[in-house]
This record gives sequence, structure tokens and C-alpha cells, in this order.
Amino acid sequence: MTYRGKLRLGVNIDHVATVRNARGSAWPDPLRAAILAEASGADGITAHLREDRRHIRDADMEALRAGIGIPLNFECAATEEMQSIVLRLLPHACCLVPERREERTTEGGLDVAGDEARLRAFVAPLREAGIRVSMFIGHDPRQIEASARIGAAVVELHTGHYSDLHAEGQQGEAEAELTALARGAARAAALGLEVHAGHGLTYENVEPVAAIPELMELNIGHFLIGEAIFRGLGPAIEEMRRRMDVARGS
Ligand code: PXP
Repeated sequence: MTYRGKLRLGVNIDHVATVRNARGSAWPDPLRAAILAEASGADGITAHLREDRRHIRDADMEALRAGIGIPLNFECAATEEMQSIVLRLLPHACCLVPERREERTTEGGLDVAGDEARLRAFVAPLREAGIRVSMFIGHDPRQIEASARIGAAVVELHTGHYSDLHAEGQQGEAEAELTALARGAARAAALGLEVHAGHGLTYENVEPVAAIPELMELNIGHFLIGEAIFRGLGPAIEEMRRRMDVARGS
């Protein structure tokens, strides 16, 4: 299925919590950012509860679940602890990501093909609870096919490598990566998966990704929270929305 409607924008508010935690105070408040994002055209809010709680904390997730009117995408590692929190909070969606304590951000995609039995068992109760489960993976067809087999509703394709190549000015390599992402999106959609993408997206690199017709949602965080310092969060989101719409011809 090719999605020709409006591309949804999920705003990741993790780094509002990063700034708050730098001072151990109560502000800036991630929930306030989420409510402002909603008012500025975000279609969903993503937050990542990491095992080390370096930014978003349990209380933030509770506040987001209760306080926003748009879908909450709960991002986490596939651990028993996270599964029980997700099943208690019942967010709209749960995006499973790999997590390494020493990494600065989510560096690669999840190895669904190499951990199929465990992930199938992990996903089943979430599905039964009505949560849309998403796998954050690279564009490798093996990972896409394994995600479909284990019962995920969504795959989110990792755009970090494309973003890095684009930032380094490696035009040819960035285009090749984009082609691979587009091929991955088409394969995933053909298998009946809803396709999202995200990581490292900015005003400069978002349009070619947003133009991939199978994509239904982009999740963008770090750049938007940084840009909010200069133009305010609302205008930063509105400009991203505008560029996504330009790419979609809508
Ligand atoms: N999608 C997923 C699954 C992520 O882990 C992240 C980073 O937390 C993002 C999207 C957003 O990436 P960025 O903060 O680089 O925009």
C-alpha cells in the first residue's frame, strides 16, 4: 500500500528532559513541550524511556500519557521492565529500539532477524493490549521481513546513516542510502507494514526522505529541540511541517 495522504510528524521531546536533568530542577517540563508541540501541528509525541533514565523518567511517561491529546509513541528497549511499564500505561504505540548504555543515541537498528523468537514473545501481549508495535530497524530486507513475521504493525526505518552522510557532504553515498531506504519502505509496505522513519533529520535533509511515498510518519527530536532555542518550539515544528508538506506536494 502506498500512502498518499499527509505525512505525520511525531515530535520526540527527550531532549527537553535532557536540559531539565542537567540542572536537576523541574524545568523545562517535557509535558509542557508536548502540549505546545500538539498545538503547533505535531501528529504524535515520542518519548524514549531508557534503562538508565538519562532523559525521560517514569513520571514523565505517566504525565505524557495523561496529559496529551495526540498519540503517544513509547520508545524503549525490549526488556521485561519496559514491557510491564508499557502494559500498565497502554500508550497508542510502542517502538522497540536497541539500547547500549555507553551510546550517545540509538546508533543502529534492532536485530529482529537474529532475535526473532524472543521478540515475537515480547510483542504478543502488547498486540493483545491493542498497542501498535513498531520495530526500529535498518533497511535490510531480512530485518523488514522478520518484523512482519513476528507480528509488528509498524517498522521505523533508521535514517541516521543517511543523515550523517548528508551532513558530511558525501552526496553520492547519501543518495545511495536514500535509495536503499526507499526500497526498504516499498518492501515493508508490500508486506502490509506501516512505514515510519527517523533519526538525525533536519531542515536540510528531511525533504528527500519525506518524499518516499510509502512513509506515513517521521519522528524527529534532537534537531527540533535545538532549533527551538532560536525560533521557539512552535515555529520550529511549523517549519518542519512546511518542508514535509513541500516534499509531499501537499
Ligand atoms: N526514532 C527513533 C526510534 C529514535 O530512537 C530517535 C532518537 O531518540 C528518533 C526517531 C529521533 O531522532 P532525532 O532525535 O535524531 O531526531
